Amino acid sequence: MTDDGSPTGMSYSLCDMTEWEGVEADLAITDPPFGLEFDGKASNYNRDESRVVDGYVEWDAEEYAAKIDTLLDVLARNTADDGQAIVFSGRDNSHQVHRTVLDHDDWRLEGKLYWAYNFAPYCKKRPAHNVYELFWMVKGDEWYYTNECEYDHCQEGEANLSTLDIKRNYLTEMPKYPTRLPPKVVKVLLDHFSEPGDTVFDPLAGAGVVGIAAAQRDRTAVMGDLNANAREVFEETVEALGAVE
Ligand SMILES: C[S@@+](CC[C@H](N)C(=O)[O-])C[C@H]1O[C@@H](n2cnc3c(N)ncnc32)[C@H](O)[C@@H]1O
Repeated sequence: MTDDGSPTGMSYSLCDMTEWEGVEADLAITDPPFGLEFDGKASNYNRDESRVVDGYVEWDAEEYAAKIDTLLDVLARNTADDGQAIVFSGRDNSHQVHRTVLDHDDWRLEGKLYWAYNFAPYCKKRPAHNVYELFWMVKGDEWYYTNECEYDHCQEGEANLSTLDIKRNYLTEMPKYPTRLPPKVVKVLLDHFSEPGDTVFDPLAGAGVVGIAAAQRDRTAVMGDLNANAREVFEETVEALGAVE
């Protein structure tokens, strides 16, 4: 166990993202709130509200670009000079992430990946949006990448990182945290963009899947979230995902 009680290789702090200093991460992977007044309890989600963990901190649509700019500052000052970052964006606000990265002083947009997934909500009014955009950003020219990982898109033909076709895993034996990432999508990114021994940073960690997957891949994970319930969810997620590959 580490000082804060997290399993070895992982630390999880309850703090605002702006509080982080000096992490020196090799890779940041993070999934910001949607900017949609989203709490994971909307009636178009086929789920029992009482089982959805409270406290998810959402961002207003009007302040979304400013929040993303602040997030990019946080990631820049907490990554090494040759560090890189992958920021997820779903639904309506990804254009704001795109513009903000292009305007940012420290980050250069090196590429974009798409994660296509099965989407649970039933949308009456419009087609369900089931693609996340992943913004891959670097600081200079010295970034790490390998064109190999253990998953199908690399093992069966040429590596294809343009579109990651990965299902969400709706596990039932754990508390539901809105927008919990499947470990597989994180592990694909870890395999391609980091090496064992690297430090991986997620200041918007939620259930902590980025850090749990990182620890399972022999990386050190530094995580935080402003939701007072997040650490507890993280601990339960560690238990639930311990055996999940
Ligand atoms: C999309 S969720 C992350 C989900 C996570 N990737 C997972 O697998 O569970 C975004 C998280 O950002 C947190 N958050 C929002 N604003 C924050 C802030 N200013 N500082 C830290 N965390 C914040 C929310 O509470 C939420 O848990």
